Amino acid sequence: MNQFKSYCSTASKRQYIRIRTRFVKYCPVCLLLLLPIYACTADRSRKGPKLTGLSGKELAEIHCAGCHLFPAPDLLDKSAWENGILPEMAYRLGMRDPLEKLAVLAPDEIITVLRAASYPDGPVLASEDWQKIIRFYVGNAPEKPLPQELKSPVGAGLPFFEVRPLAEKMDVLPMVSLVKIDETDGCIYAGRREKRMLEVYDRSLKKIESLPVSSPLSDMALSKGQGLMALQMGTMEPNDLRNGQLIAIDEQKQKTVLLDS
Ligand code: HEC
Repeated sequence: MNQFKSYCSTASKRQYIRIRTRFVKYCPVCLLLLLPIYACTADRSRKGPKLTGLSGKELAEIHCAGCHLFPAPDLLDKSAWENGILPEMAYRLGMRDPLEKLAVLAPDEIITVLRAASYPDGPVLASEDWQKIIRFYVGNAPEKPLPQELKSPVGAGLPFFEVRPLAEKMDVLPMVSLVKIDETDGCIYAGRREKRMLEVYDRSLKKIESLPVSSPLSDMALSKGQGLMALQMGTMEPNDLRNGQLIAIDEQKQKTVLLDS
């Protein structure tokens, strides 16, 4: 049996050497044959999508309405289309290198954006078709923004409520990201983004507690077992970071992370 095995392996080894010698001998020929095929495919990917012969409007109706409603050119002025929107949407249509967008992100944001496939791998339209879309928007947009319909005036106050100022002096503009009212004792909880605090006010609007938090709050709950639980956003500005947390704050103001994104 052993003998058979060793014979078998020597035989296959011999055959392998024969094939390898032949391959090495004919390799240059193979490469020469493969080269035009490679050149052809490489050329095709360089050329990108074919020119369609459609008008700028038709192209915009297909491509711009692919992700959201079709935006009419008169919604914005020429400069907003040319310098603001279209250069930005060019990334979404593969007409600009998305690396420019990714370069400014944090490493874990880059992974999230790549996983979400937010930007196509290559151009979605031929370069001349893209120019037609630009001409359609810039050519049909007004020089100055069109006047808007008058909206009803903004009024202050709420029916059934009266406005009362807080006793506390505000030296910076308050940025409140959360308000909760505990109806049992009338306490008001306010998440103060600019101070990184969760503040508690009593019925008479006197501040009775300040609890430090590490990022802006979006929600909170009072539970018998866990005490106070709050959701920290991490970073409030638009982002793809995973740095939000669910925390519990006990009577001694000690924080425990219950969930970490
Ligand atoms: C692959 C999807 C996609 C395509 C294609 C696309 N958009 Fe957008 N568009 C978005 C997304 C997502 C947003 C919101 C986020 C942003 O601004 O990037 C947006 C936002 C906009 C806005 C609002 C911008 C603002 O600042 O509020 C306008 C206007 C717009 N797109 C016009 C266009 C036009 C015109 C085209 C075609 C040339 C187009 N979009 C193609 C995805 C797309």
